[in-house]
Amino acid sequence: MVISICQAVVTYVLLLWFVRVTDGMPDPAQRDLLMRQEASRQTGGRVALTAAEQKLDAYLHQLKEKEMSAAQFPPALHYFKAKPHIQKSSIFKLLQKMPKGAALHIHSSSLVSVEWLVKNVTYRPHCYICFTWDNSVRFLFSDRQPFPRWDCFYWQLLETLRAKIGDPKGFDNSLMQHLTLFTEDPDGEYPSQDVVWEKFEKAFIAAAGLITHAPVLKDYFYKGLGELQLDNIMYLELRSGLSRTYELDGTIHNKVWTLKTFQEVTKKFIADHPDFLGARIIISVHRALGVSEVKAAVKEAIQLQKDFPDVVAGFDMVGREDSGRTLWYFREALSLPTELGVTLPYFFHAGETDDEGTDVDQNILDALLFNTTRIGHGYALAHHPLAKELSRKRNVAVELCPISNQVLKLVSDLRNHPAAVLMSEGHPMVISSDDPSLFGTTGLSYDFYEAFVGIGGLKANLGTLKELAVNSIRYSSLPAQLKDTGYAMWQRKWDAFIVDQS
Ligand SMILES: *[C@@H]1O[C@H](CO)[C@@H](O)[C@H](O)[C@H]1NC(C)=O
Ligand SMILES: *[C@@H]1O[C@H](CO)[C@@H](O)[C@H](O)[C@H]1NC(C)=O
Ligand SMILES: [Zn+2]
Repeated sequence: MVISICQAVVTYVLLLWFVRVTDGMPDPAQRDLLMRQEASRQTGGRVALTAAEQKLDAYLHQLKEKEMSAAQFPPALHYFKAKPHIQKSSIFKLLQKMPKGAALHIHSSSLVSVEWLVKNVTYRPHCYICFTWDNSVRFLFSDRQPFPRWDCFYWQLLETLRAKIGDPKGFDNSLMQHLTLFTEDPDGEYPSQDVVWEKFEKAFIAAAGLITHAPVLKDYFYKGLGELQLDNIMYLELRSGLSRTYELDGTIHNKVWTLKTFQEVTKKFIADHPDFLGARIIISVHRALGVSEVKAAVKEAIQLQKDFPDVVAGFDMVGREDSGRTLWYFREALSLPTELGVTLPYFFHAGETDDEGTDVDQNILDALLFNTTRIGHGYALAHHPLAKELSRKRNVAVELCPISNQVLKLVSDLRNHPAAVLMSEGHPMVISSDDPSLFGTTGLSYDFYEAFVGIGGLKANLGTLKELAVNSIRYSSLPAQLKDTGYAMWQRKWDAFIVDQS
């Protein structure tokens, strides 16, 4: 402490001295030094680039200058409007090819694009549909006419309905609208956080009947890994409630079945794609539950982690923070592992809010007090100096999901995202996509684009991208040995990518 004060004094005195000797005008050499010192603090600021990397970096810089001066700057627009511009961007095309490492924050119910859900899954035999009173849909696979339910009176065989309607394309588009937030008019359709979150939860429920059909779930996981791999991602940590799944005859499988299925599908995927590292699950429960239910869920997660140590990474609480219960509310449940003398790593969503000073805003400190391994979103972190210090000191990375934050209306122009501060300070951070199918993204390239071009601005460079990719392995839940395998695999891909670009 004393030393750092001395250093500060020395630096300050030196600074004053520099200023004085140059007769009023700050010394350009000193100015240059300070600028370089500041830049070295940003994410990737200390990454040494090879000659080939420097060449690519210079090219990226040029591209960025061009995109920043264009009439429409994508990060300043709502992502739904920015998407076509982003798709045309040369930076984006480069990011797609870039090996990005791991996706550490994606939810299982929005892993796979809605195009596939509608064009593939709803075309399978025995698929029934029902339109609910609140203008949503339910799906159910069944070998007989399903019984009416409280939310669903009239089930129709989709095949028959489609034939009757006669406009399959329009009909399929309308089905997709129920499963995603994506729309041409985001500002009109989603005037407030409440409205967009309502649609968000509805879409989850609508998709559930498709995804939790046992044979579909297998293909779904496989397809999900495939979409990530196509975007040059090699590892996934998936948040999942391990919903029970059902067969055509109504047989129900438990969570262990889902976990085993995930494990088997991952193995098969790796066998088919040896350059894919793997996938693990973060067991998640909804924050609308009561304390005793969450206690039971924590106990169950402890057991599942014991039984499937290679697959289960840990535990999280999901659902909208602003209207849900706080971590502190669940303190008794969340202290169980420590009480029982076992470890259950936490990966808490925390600080996904712009309501400063509320109980919800406090989640971020509580997540750290419960020794969270990473922080999901941490949108509010920049406002919490102490929590920020703790997270940095303990290497608790923030999972930054820019498009999610924008679509769920925490920020409109992504240049104003608070993570700009975290990035300029080199705070531990990874980039992820949260709910790709709901936001109409695929892989991580769109979120990388927003983080790199919008949040990072002109000063984010190839070193930033490199560090973000490496971070995704560094801050993953993988054991040390697999991390080393991961680094080596990623480095090979990276080197090939650099050669390819030069
Ligand atoms: C649906 O997906 C499955 C598994 O990915 C594939 O085998 C099948 O051919 C697809 N069917 C259609 C109609 O696209
Ligand atoms: C968090 O970690 C600290 C240090 O290892 C430990 O003393 C504390 O009991 C842990 N807290 C919880 C709630 O697990
Ligand atoms: Zn999330």
